Amino acid sequence: MLDNLNNINSEVENEIKSVSDLNGLEEFRLKYLSRKGVVATLFENLKDVPKEEKGRYGKELNELKNLVNNLFEEKKNSLSTSEEKTDIDITLEGRTYNEGTRHLISKALEEISSIFVKIGFKVYDGPEIEDEFHNFDALNTPWFHPSRDMQDTFYLDTKGKDISDKSKTPLLRTHTSPGQVRVMQSHKPPIRIILPGKVFRNEAISARSLSQFHQIEGLYVDKNVTFGDLKGTLDYFAKQFFGNDLKTRMRPSFFPFTEPSAEVDVECFICKGEGCRICKHTGWVEIAGCGMVNPKVFENVGLDPNEYTGFAFGMGIERTIMVKYGIPDIRMFYENDVRFLKQF
Ligand code: PHE
Repeated sequence: MLDNLNNINSEVENEIKSVSDLNGLEEFRLKYLSRKGVVATLFENLKDVPKEEKGRYGKELNELKNLVNNLFEEKKNSLSTSEEKTDIDITLEGRTYNEGTRHLISKALEEISSIFVKIGFKVYDGPEIEDEFHNFDALNTPWFHPSRDMQDTFYLDTKGKDISDKSKTPLLRTHTSPGQVRVMQSHKPPIRIILPGKVFRNEAISARSLSQFHQIEGLYVDKNVTFGDLKGTLDYFAKQFFGNDLKTRMRPSFFPFTEPSAEVDVECFICKGEGCRICKHTGWVEIAGCGMVNPKVFENVGLDPNEYTGFAFGMGIERTIMVKYGIPDIRMFYENDVRFLKQF
């Protein structure tokens, strides 16, 4: 009988070693520790053990029972800690992700576009890489105009390329106006379009200027378009975008592609015309250049200047948003500091 117990001892020790998961452990428990298991059965056998052996048998049986219990508990603990390590800890706090939003320039481009779409303008897109013809020649900007200088325009590398036709010299567009040329070349009036996009100028970077920024170009060509239509359209825009109480004004100006030309100012949004740092104490902030399409431009794109008139305007987006929200430095748009971007 006692030999039998010793055998069971080593059997138990071997078996617990091969238990590697909770299912195996349950099998082990059923086999040894359940009501009809090995240990319980051995206790039942106690009554058949001869009297003189009962004492020792009982003692060893108790030891076996303790051993089985201990092995079972130990295994249970080691299995549950190792399973926790590989399992998901549902008590851990969730990770937070910063949700992205649209950049305020994209939002402004959309908002401004939709203001013009409401009064019948269509949105067009022109290429960022232009050529001298579309960016300058067609827009009545002669070769000696200062904006054609390398100091102002980013010309692209022409090494190894045929540039016998100078008007095809590639460059990064310096304004959205070449888009006007492309639309007038390919569409018959009436034309009512806006062209939002990036433009590039070789400028020193400062709080007020960058070498890359955004513009929105507007063009309306039809019979009998007047300067009054231009003024009315820009007034409508300023009221929609800045609010009803802000006035606009026009100052005479010059652009080779419009005649007459004007600069559009809007009352300073920050000081409401009293004078502050943003408006350089004038009470007004410039937001756009505009004018009536120069008849020479119509000729250059193959439209009859005796039949058609038109107006055009070009608005700087960053500057316009700066006026609206009182942003002091144009570089903030591109630093992508989320503390800044989150405010819009
Ligand atoms: N293209 C001009 C600029 O970039 C703005 C403009 C557009 C002026 C259309 C008149 C008409 O400064």
